[in-house]
Amino acid sequence: MTTLIMIGAGGHARVLIELCQALGSFELLGVVAQSGPPRLMGLPLLGDESHLEALRRQGVQAACVAVGDNAARARIGARLQALGFALPALVHPAAFVAPSAVVSPGAVVMARAVLGTQARAERLTILNTGAIADHDVVLGEASHAAPGAVLAGHASLGAGALLGAGAAVRPGIVVGAGAVIGAGAAVVADIAPGATMAGVPARPLT
Ligand SMILES: CC(C)(COP(=O)(O)OP(=O)(O)OC[C@H]1O[C@@H](n2cnc3c(N)ncnc32)[C@H](O)[C@@H]1OP(=O)(O)O)[C@@H](O)C(=O)NCCC(=O)NCCS
Repeated sequence: MTTLIMIGAGGHARVLIELCQALGSFELLGVVAQSGPPRLMGLPLLGDESHLEALRRQGVQAACVAVGDNAARARIGARLQALGFALPALVHPAAFVAPSAVVSPGAVVMARAVLGTQARAERLTILNTGAIADHDVVLGEASHAAPGAVLAGHASLGAGALLGAGAAVRPGIVVGAGAVIGAGAAVVADIAPGATMAGVPARPLT
C-alpha cells in the first residue's frame, strides 16, 4: 500500500481522509498542518510544513493537498512535487469518471461528481460533491468546481478559478484564470481572468 500524508486539517481534509479510507489503497500516516487538534479522524497531527522534507526522507511516498484555497493548494502542490512526493489523483468510488476523461495528479473527484467524456481535470483540481463537468470540459490547474456546480460541454474553468456551489456554466464558455463565480450564478458569457461575478445571469459583484 502507498503511504500517504494529508496536508490540511479543515473540512476538506476530513472529506479526503474518508475518501482515501473508502478507496482502501493508501496507508494514511497522518496530517500535516500549521495547527489543529492532536488527532483528525483518528490520524495524528505530524506537524507543520517544515516537517515535509523529513517525512519524505523517512520514505513517505505520497501526499494529498487537502486545502480549499486554490492559490495555497497550487503552492503546496509545487513544493511537494519538488520534494519528490507523488500526488495521486483521488476519485471517490461513488463518482462517475468517463473512460475517456483524464484525472491528473493531485486532482480529486468527490462523491456523486461526474467527469464526462474526454473532459480533463488538470493537476490539483477539485471536482466537488455532486458537481458535473460534462463532455470536453477542461478544469484548469488548481481550479475548484464547488458542490453541485455544473459546467456544460466544452466549457472551461481557468487555472485557480472557483466556480461556487450550484453555479452553472453554459456550453463552451471560458471562465478566466483566477476568476470567482458566486454560488448559484448562471454564467452565460466568457468571464475575464480574475473577475468576481455573481447572480443570474452572472454580473460583476458591485
Ligand atoms: C460571490 C462571493 C465570492 C462574494 O463574496 P464576498 O465578496 O465576501 O461578498 P459578500 O458576502 O460581502 O456580499 C456582497 C454582496 O454580494 C451579494 N452576494 C454575495 N454572494 C452572492 C451570490 N453568490 N449571488 C448573488 N449575490 C451575492 C451579497 O448579498 C451582498 O449584497 P449586498 O451588498 O446588496 O448586501 C461569495 O458570496 C460566493 O458566492 N462564494 C462562493 C462560495 C462557494 O460556493 N464556495 C465553495 C466551497 S466548497
